Amino acid sequence: MTAPSEIREATSLQFPAGFFWGVSTAAHQVEGGADNQWSAWEARGGIKSGERCGLACDWWNNAERDFDLAREIGINSLRLSVEWSRIEPQESSFDSAALLRYRQMLDALRQRGIEPFISLHHFTHPRWFEQKDAFLNPNAPQLFERFARKVVESLGDLCRYWVTFNEPNVYATNGYVTGEFPPGRKGQVATALRVMSAQARCHLLAYRAIHEVQPQAEVGWAQHYIVFHPVHGGLDRWIAGLQSQIFNEGFLQLIEQGRFNFPLNLVDGKVNGIGGACDFVGVNVYNRFHVAFDLKSAGQLFGRVFVPPGVPQGDPGVDKPYGEAFPGAIRIAVERATRLGKPIYILENGIPDAQDRLRPWLIVNAIKEMHALISEGYDIRGYFHWTLTDNFEWAEGWRLRFGLVALDPNTQERTVRQSGRLYGEIIRQNGLTREMVEEYSAK
Ligand code: BGC
Repeated sequence: MTAPSEIREATSLQFPAGFFWGVSTAAHQVEGGADNQWSAWEARGGIKSGERCGLACDWWNNAERDFDLAREIGINSLRLSVEWSRIEPQESSFDSAALLRYRQMLDALRQRGIEPFISLHHFTHPRWFEQKDAFLNPNAPQLFERFARKVVESLGDLCRYWVTFNEPNVYATNGYVTGEFPPGRKGQVATALRVMSAQARCHLLAYRAIHEVQPQAEVGWAQHYIVFHPVHGGLDRWIAGLQSQIFNEGFLQLIEQGRFNFPLNLVDGKVNGIGGACDFVGVNVYNRFHVAFDLKSAGQLFGRVFVPPGVPQGDPGVDKPYGEAFPGAIRIAVERATRLGKPIYILENGIPDAQDRLRPWLIVNAIKEMHALISEGYDIRGYFHWTLTDNFEWAEGWRLRFGLVALDPNTQERTVRQSGRLYGEIIRQNGLTREMVEEYSAK
């Protein structure tokens, strides 16, 4: 006779022991009370919904409330970022009280059995750094290295996994091409590429400094990957390839080989000595966009980027769709990232979905996709869902809700969504049961 638990075992998609089942967060989006270039941007009217970040999820006072929820759900790892503007509020002057608060948070995570992953830069930095032109300042690599060294010296005994940068491609594109992020410049593609190569230089110095302070550290970055899907072959395919080359490939190539490939190398982006300076590749993957050649879309390199009707889609932003929710994007992104020959962590994957219409489906299918990849030999070591509790979504304000836990920012009241309970069940099973796969296979 076969015991029921053995049947379940035989028919479920099991993950390797020690797999990181996590959530990702970012300081500005959860801490509240920020004083950085984003709070200045908000004061200048940069939030499209007109909303205020305010207390956010109130982590600076009480992150522990959400850490308790993370433990209740069963999460075993949590990615957070440290806010440079708190740690170095004036240039060269470090705030030990801020570092102490981060120590408390890391202790609190460890007490709950949760492994921390720390991002050093997740879109925000001090106003003094912004006033110096941020990464376009020739001293940016040294300034960033000094900050990184200070953080690892102060927190290294409590954290082993470091993400130097969150999504240099999103930071550069939104800040210098679409103008949706500070500094709000538009159409400056060459400058955006220079920003990315400066961030690669910062990454390299930080990578070396972190290893000097903490030889056993694991250091990587988080690469945002969008699938650009051509509607037909021919010109559509060519344009989609070019968009992917610029958005997805730029920073990957800098880390891989210290320079851009054609046509991006028309901008001198050389970073000497970087070749392969990372211990893992973090992949942030959400969406697929469809691309058609279109003479009227000059601003998007003559490719109309759109979401066709009828595909699974999260809630729309203030003035545009968020993108097609496409679990298959994980495969495409992982196949590309694997070429760097390093372990991979999915450091973000999620959907804006206040009513939890699609999030359970997305989670199950994303995990199914990862399971197939791991079975084929891809070295994926963790999955970090974006995000734990609804938080302040940059220029979209509170409009987009990504949490496993719903938040009312006015009362700070929290309610675990069904997707949060489902994720907890997946973690307890260390994978998917056959019933889960069946229930969410159709869409
Ligand atoms: C960013 C997060 C953001 C998420 C959802 C990612 O690109 O790293 O900060 O909240 O996407 O849009």
